[in-house]
Amino acid sequence: MALHEDVFARIHSLLEGEDDWVAAMSTVVCELHHSFEHFHWTGFYRTVEANVLKIGPYQGGHGCLVIPFDKGICGAAARTGETQDVPDVHARTEHIACSSTTLSELVVPVKNSDGDVVAVLDLDSDLPEAFSSSDILFAEHLCRYLGAKYFSFATQDTPHH
Ligand code: SME
Repeated sequence: MALHEDVFARIHSLLEGEDDWVAAMSTVVCELHHSFEHFHWTGFYRTVEANVLKIGPYQGGHGCLVIPFDKGICGAAARTGETQDVPDVHARTEHIACSSTTLSELVVPVKNSDGDVVAVLDLDSDLPEAFSSSDILFAEHLCRYLGAKYFSFATQDTPHH
């Protein structure tokens, strides 16, 4: 089984029956960080109020705690609802360098059933152009899966945070 398929299958199995979003994020970042050598920082930022992201579970060095939607690569993903593939972080003036060693970044939004961005998955690498098209498709598939599992509301129920 290809690595991406194998990791997704493991995450799917690990989250079986788990309805707690914090537990899910923690499990996902652990599995991702230890499965892909080029993921040097792996974490979620959560939408905690209108146009504000706050750090969630992560693996790697300290990440900045708060990112407004108009700042950084994470803010761009949250603001646009679009994946941000950044092969060279120095080419994006809005990049926030939580680590001086980061050279490339991939940020993928997690959306609820209304299409609102409820979190972003932030992947940083110390390698240039580290994220392949397979990484991008995998991360987008994973974030769609997480959005559907934890943020699809037929009623007013909300997941445990
Ligand atoms: N690089 C991100 C900030 C988060 S730290 O990298 C963990 C950005 O530009 O939004």
